[in-house]
Amino acid sequence: MSVLPPPAEKASYVQRMFSELAPGYDRLNRVMTFGMDEGWRDLVVETIAPLANGRALDVGTGTGDFLPLLTAWMPDGIAVGLDFALPMMQAGLPKVAAAQARNQITAPNVQVASGTAPAAGTAVFVGGNALQLPFPDQTFDVLTTGFVLRNVTDIAATLREMWRVTRPGGVMACLEVARPEQPLLRAGHWLYFQQLVPIIAGAFGGDRQFYTYLPQSARHFPPPPELAKLMQAAGWEFTHYRLLGLGAVALHLGVRLA
Ligand SMILES: C[S@@+](CC[C@H](N)C(=O)[O-])C[C@H]1O[C@@H](n2cnc3c(N)ncnc32)[C@H](O)[C@@H]1O
Repeated sequence: MSVLPPPAEKASYVQRMFSELAPGYDRLNRVMTFGMDEGWRDLVVETIAPLANGRALDVGTGTGDFLPLLTAWMPDGIAVGLDFALPMMQAGLPKVAAAQARNQITAPNVQVASGTAPAAGTAVFVGGNALQLPFPDQTFDVLTTGFVLRNVTDIAATLREMWRVTRPGGVMACLEVARPEQPLLRAGHWLYFQQLVPIIAGAFGGDRQFYTYLPQSARHFPPPPELAKLMQAAGWEFTHYRLLGLGAVALHLGVRLA
């Protein structure tokens, strides 16, 4: 049975869903991915290698898992996490604050915030919509986004908006679900993702309807080569992807040249 909302209701459904999932989101994420999601995010940040004084934006940041990784690379920079489900960011605040405190102890050149200027190595959460990012053109050096695109109402428009706020020479990295090509892996993936994940989520106190939405939304998401083409159409160049987690996840990269 499909639990996918009609397009006109998708944004409010997704916003409500993640707001309700927020308190248990991190724990369920670790369980569902066997802890691999942390390694995937590490890989993203190592791949884009932000400059020490860079500006990074994580679109659909959720509980902000990317932020400590980004600020660890950017002791003199700033990482902004944006999401439209405020409870997700609230749930992530203690984690991000703790990581930031650790960074400030270990980063030798960190400065203390004064006035309204952000402190060095700062992570901040901002409420906003990925389809209308509340930033001027060419604000960020690097942009990350993890497991967000299948939840937006317009993937192409979101990719264009990401391109708009990235400076020429800037890089974007996107993690999203994919489906393994190899038939046996594909069958195992279907069984796990479509059938077991909702049950596991229910056992861990998650809402089964929401964890049925997640695999179903993945079924309608463009496969990696098509997503690369959508990125190109949005202006991203040097687009490239690699598969992770036995083909269950794709990491796409793109560069804004001009
Ligand atoms: C599956 S979670 C991923 C969170 C985080 N990026 C991670 O890797 O764990 C998807 C997140 O995208 C957010 N999201 C979906 N559509 C959005 C939109 N149009 N604008 C802002 N945030 C959005 C949701 O609220 C949710 O927090």
